[in-house]
Amino acid sequence: MVTRIDNLMHESRRFPPTVEFIADSVVGPEIYAAAAADRLAFWADQARTLHWHKPFTRTLDWEDAPFAKWFDDGALNVAYNCLDRHVLAGNGDRVALYFEGEPGDSRSYTYAELTAEVKRAANVMAGLGIVQGDRVAVYLPMIPEAVITMLAVARLGAVHSVIFGGFSSESLRSRIDDASAKLVVTADGGYRKGKVFPLKHAVDAALAAGTESSVEHVLVVKRGGNEVEWQHGRDLWWDEEMAAADVEHEAMPFPAENPLFILYTSGTTGKPKGVLHTSGGYLTQTSFTHRAVFDLHPETDIYWCTADVGWITGHSYVTYGPLANGATQVMYEGTPDSPHPGRWWEIIQKYGVTILYTAPTAIRSFMKIGRHIPQAFDLSSLRVLGSVGEPINPEAWIWYRDIIGGGNTPIVDTWWQTETGAIMLSALPGVTTLKPGAAQVPIPGIAIEVLDEAGTDVGLNSGGLLVVSEPWPSMIRGIWGDPERFVETYWEKFGTKYFAGDGARRDHDGDYWLLGRVDDVMNVSGHRLSTAEIESALVSHPMVAEAAVVGAEDEATGQAVVAFVVIKESQAHAATADEASTLLRAHVAEQIGAIARPKLVFLVAELPKTRSGKIMRRLLKDVAEGREVGDTTTLADTSVMRIITDKLS
Ligand code: WT7
Repeated sequence: MVTRIDNLMHESRRFPPTVEFIADSVVGPEIYAAAAADRLAFWADQARTLHWHKPFTRTLDWEDAPFAKWFDDGALNVAYNCLDRHVLAGNGDRVALYFEGEPGDSRSYTYAELTAEVKRAANVMAGLGIVQGDRVAVYLPMIPEAVITMLAVARLGAVHSVIFGGFSSESLRSRIDDASAKLVVTADGGYRKGKVFPLKHAVDAALAAGTESSVEHVLVVKRGGNEVEWQHGRDLWWDEEMAAADVEHEAMPFPAENPLFILYTSGTTGKPKGVLHTSGGYLTQTSFTHRAVFDLHPETDIYWCTADVGWITGHSYVTYGPLANGATQVMYEGTPDSPHPGRWWEIIQKYGVTILYTAPTAIRSFMKIGRHIPQAFDLSSLRVLGSVGEPINPEAWIWYRDIIGGGNTPIVDTWWQTETGAIMLSALPGVTTLKPGAAQVPIPGIAIEVLDEAGTDVGLNSGGLLVVSEPWPSMIRGIWGDPERFVETYWEKFGTKYFAGDGARRDHDGDYWLLGRVDDVMNVSGHRLSTAEIESALVSHPMVAEAAVVGAEDEATGQAVVAFVVIKESQAHAATADEASTLLRAHVAEQIGAIARPKLVFLVAELPKTRSGKIMRRLLKDVAEGREVGDTTTLADTSVMRIITDKLS
């Protein structure tokens, strides 16, 4: 890792902003000085760009650290800020959403239309008894109803928990239970790779399993047209309820610290964490960063973020940031290669997309197919490109700029996390001289440091642990139902400085380079997966005695899930190695979701452990990445690695 980053940091290409870009840029370099002069006043100013039903007088309360309160004596309505206020300002006819379905259907919503839909949906939910603080689980494809649902929940002061459609019914159930959701909003199915994938079916399975659940109703959007089973009294069709609902709905103010959503993300244990975000601070930082990082001109830009609403990027940069800013955006339901490998570029050409925000894994997969695909389309409307989810290697960065950006668009590599809620490190396109591969600098108003284990700043050109050293508006407010885990995970290490779990290094200019996770969390295609969670899925299979999972470096997906499994002696003859591997990969997909399915499952006789019984994942990573196995002297039984490697070679 260290040698790789050394090579990367020799990257010498620099791209200063052009004179034309600077001339029309939303923010200039003075913003850094302004934010540094008075950080809290800076954020208070940003917050005041929102509509407050009741203005705040206190910016930050950090007395009860690490439980932060921002703008906490103010009151606002998040949905009103994303909708009504734009209509009242005379922008009701501006398109908010251009929706493109995978089969080729399309529809659009102006701000006036989207506002009307959200009002209706809020009335539907209120009619089902949803009030401030109630939890609503959302399990939908990438269709406008997903955004409408989130905003309707927010409008009522209730709390949404969006569960990515690729998660299994088991994962769905555990999230519904953890949050005691009262309502589930889902669809019959959605389109993916030319086929309909069922969703309602998974909700039925989730709610049927075992004990009674907190769920009173399931609201079902018609999208896939696939057959569904129906539980009368519990299940309701979205379109019927919407048609019957009143279109008038007044947005009531809620306190700035009213919970807005829970989003589950993987940690270092087997149980996902329900990351809690609240209202005023979250909306302040998502809208500010969306404007500044993407140089948003809402009157003329067509913005497209390719993330699913099931992830934090979809929350902050599909739903809340762009809509708070009155942006016009594209939303696409399907995969990049359906029905043809140029689908994304066709969409950019069709809508004249000016800002594209996507992930390095997607860029690398396009690189692999070849430049002739994007080059068959007119991409000249693009003027800002964004990247998120994992480090973008300089080769992919340059390809992105040259082939997609026509050789002259700025690229902003944005580092942040589910927990940070909004972008924390990034270039600003009209200000920063770009450096391929680096996440560059903290956003104005954000304080970042790189520390050693003892909490001392490592200075320039040394690797260390990335921390956020001052509270920020869109920060995680807690882990749902588990304040101790919140403190332990993020704050135990460095007190009032937030420990992000990433390694980083600053170069001689002070620019930040991300070095990957320092804990047992993997990053597969920009999605976070936990080794412990996949291990516990594996050992839940009756064949398995023990399992260890590592994230192995992978050219396409950043990391890939590789599992080492010890089969129970009694099961040793139940299946061939190939059969067992296929079976176990499928079992993980069923337990967690297809995204967690191991790329490889190795059956081994034993796992390498220290004398205290801790699995030495580092050695397994060596094997999985095809390297010579490192230092084995701390192993309890030094012969196991030889047995493993002999068997695999
Ligand atoms: C982890 C957070 C933020 C939305 C997508 C993922 C990695 C994220 C970058 C980047 C290097 C990055 C980090 C981080 N990561 N963006 N630009 N450069 N690494 O959200 O699932 O919460 O994962 O993704 O390791 O900790 P997430």
